[in-house]
Amino acid sequence: MAHTTLAEKFRTMDYGAAPEDPAQALAWLDQFKGRFGHFIGGAWTAPAEGRYFETCDPSTGEKIADIAQGSGSDVDAAVKAARAALPRWQSLTPHARARFLYALARQVQKHSRRLSVLETIDNGKPIRESRDIDIPLVARHFYYHAGWPQLLEQEFPGYQACGVVGQIIPWNFPLLMLAWKIAPALAAANTVVLKPAEFTPLTALAFAELCNEVGLPPGVVNIVTGDGSTGEALVVHPDVDKIAFTGSTEVGRAIRRATADSHKKLSLELGGKSPFVVFEDADLDSAVEGLVDGIWLNQGQVCCAGSRLLMQESIAVPITKKLQARMAALRVGSPLDKTTDIGAIVARVQLERIEALVAQGVAEGASCWQPDMPIPSRGLYYRPTLFTNVHPTSVVAQQEIFGPVLAAMTFRTPAEAVELANNTAYGLAASVWSESVNVALQVSARIKAGVVWVNSTNMFDAACGFGGYRESGFGREGGREGMREYLQPTWFRKAPLLRRGAAQGRDPTRVSAPAIDRTVKLYIGGKQVRPDSGYSIECRSRKGVLLGEVPLGNRKDIRNAVEAARRAEQWSSAGAHSRAQVLYYLAENLSQRGKEIVARLAAVVGKRQASEELRLSVERLFTYAGWADKYEGVVHSPPFRNIAVAMNEALGTAGVICPEEAPLLGFLSMVLPLVVAGNCVIAVPSAAYPLIAGDLYQVFETSDVPGGVINMVTGRPAELMKVLADHDDVDTLWCYGDEGLCAAAKRLSAGNLKQVWTNEGRRIDFFHERYGAGRWYLDHACQAKNIWVPYGE
Ligand code: NAI
Repeated sequence: MAHTTLAEKFRTMDYGAAPEDPAQALAWLDQFKGRFGHFIGGAWTAPAEGRYFETCDPSTGEKIADIAQGSGSDVDAAVKAARAALPRWQSLTPHARARFLYALARQVQKHSRRLSVLETIDNGKPIRESRDIDIPLVARHFYYHAGWPQLLEQEFPGYQACGVVGQIIPWNFPLLMLAWKIAPALAAANTVVLKPAEFTPLTALAFAELCNEVGLPPGVVNIVTGDGSTGEALVVHPDVDKIAFTGSTEVGRAIRRATADSHKKLSLELGGKSPFVVFEDADLDSAVEGLVDGIWLNQGQVCCAGSRLLMQESIAVPITKKLQARMAALRVGSPLDKTTDIGAIVARVQLERIEALVAQGVAEGASCWQPDMPIPSRGLYYRPTLFTNVHPTSVVAQQEIFGPVLAAMTFRTPAEAVELANNTAYGLAASVWSESVNVALQVSARIKAGVVWVNSTNMFDAACGFGGYRESGFGREGGREGMREYLQPTWFRKAPLLRRGAAQGRDPTRVSAPAIDRTVKLYIGGKQVRPDSGYSIECRSRKGVLLGEVPLGNRKDIRNAVEAARRAEQWSSAGAHSRAQVLYYLAENLSQRGKEIVARLAAVVGKRQASEELRLSVERLFTYAGWADKYEGVVHSPPFRNIAVAMNEALGTAGVICPEEAPLLGFLSMVLPLVVAGNCVIAVPSAAYPLIAGDLYQVFETSDVPGGVINMVTGRPAELMKVLADHDDVDTLWCYGDEGLCAAAKRLSAGNLKQVWTNEGRRIDFFHERYGAGRWYLDHACQAKNIWVPYGE
């Protein structure tokens, strides 16, 4: 008789079915008789236009329920309910608000299984993921944020809630994205109108019921369901104070444009094409397991999916082999089966999108490999897919596929790895694998991404900010920086509006004959240069006396200045101490030249203001020299064997349209926080007194400011702003001016989704340290990068 060894048995064992019982979730759905209205003012409300759409189970194609299609009037009713609820919600004590958040966390935990099953049948994700990742993180988010209300007064003095917040979320992590949005909004005492994605509305509706169960005051949370048009109605609603969006970059761009003409605060969490970088000294088996999480979690429908595998050339063959073996062992099948690794794709349109992009990849010549494995004949499934021989510029290397598709490329050196990693318009996340802490941390610091996981992937925690660089959007979710998105300085909201046209002031644009008194030049890359246009514009005193001329800068000059700023990028890695030293030296030299500068400036702003500007400018230089080595990141200790180092990184190249009214102090108040944070700047000086550029560059030249760190282009602010907004290599635009100019800056910056900070047309009193300097400015001059570092064996 032939004996079967234990090892043979082990090899031939297969999984039995381990289905999750959906009975309780289905019973809950039955209570609603398969039809859901909106949740407005704490009550279920039929859609005004009586329209419904179906939500389906992507693993079977079967209809689950009818969902209300939100119209403009539904959105309006929800916004009104949120507005009406605001005073009562804000009059509660912080402790009372904390208790509501705590109660919501508890309620999520109490109903965690029902929520997991609902998520799985609506989205198609494996129950293992919804049960073990999504829903526990939802609870953690509410617990974490339950801690904030009572700390706000001390941690954010002088800040207040934005008001009514409109939130639009995608379908890939439906309840988790809801938690990421609603928890901080409520913790900061806002009220909310949230629109879930049309493919996955069920858990948001289940959450609405939890809000009632914990007795949340009606109107504090409102849920309006519907498609993109419902989202659009929320975005353009005039009584919404802030929009928070997660979804595609394309829609993010549309929202940036649609909100430009308003005072709405905006945060965008958009797409990604995140690199997964494996060095030859990495633990390859761990890296392969990391990839399974990195690209096959949630069928690859993850904004921060590690969709580009960058392998050091020497290990390309072994890692590819290991990867293929692991891929062949993945189980694609019913999401409700607890042994399933890869569930169903959310909707047919998404499946077709994946198929089309993969076909394009094949057509472009990349090699496509899929394991020969069974997949269910019914439902929307896609096999795990690996592309090799991928050209870095090909579609599969550049476009977000949002499916279980990995594109592998090779590199030789760490520098090449960084170059490849950054060869994308996105900048959401990255994973770096190496047993050398030096290599791992150096590469992590150089990759442009909001989150970097060292020897790990897809780790999330409510205490650690999450969000992108570049076209992956701006703003953070989670942590202190996430709270900031839902708060605003009270003084800023009350600041009076500038008169329209004030920013342009008197016409500085008269093109004139040769210089009479003083002629200054542009200042680019540390050199005084003539303008491309060959024209100058006059600068006159209050009484109309010609004081001198400044160059009429144009597109070409801005381009040169951007190039110079890019070349000076190493400024961001100059130590904080060195940056502070430069500022102190600047203060010294400014003070020495003070008398002559004041005498000239006085002709435009009067003697008193000129002296005050000088005195406060020297002070401000000291202020920011002080901040240089004190505006620091933090170390989070998430509930894993990790630390997450949250570093404040420079945004890169900054365009600055300076205020007209305080030519010297306004200039420094805007430029210094950017410079001290490590950015390089192209500043357009005050239109009222652009001659200040001449005084400033003489001071810069004698103060060791490295060439290219501060560039100055004089000219017509509105025109130069357009060029800066349009320029893809400008990472942030700070624009001070009237409402029209600010709106244009936001609208025109939608192209590469650069971060825009404006004064919203409000007058900022730069003469007051509280308004003109400090953390608020630095917060806008940096972006947080969270580097997750594991420890232990
Ligand atoms: P989408 O960006 O269209 O949808 C996300 C949310 O925005 C949904 O709630 C939708 O109803 C809403 N929306 C759509 N148009 C809107 C508008 N004009 N104004 C306001 N809200 C609007 O994403 P979609 O079409 O579902 O997926 C397309 C691609 O987007 C995916 O293949 C993927 O590449 C990317 N995506 C990225 C996500 C991320 O987390 N970064 C999430 C979802 C999609």
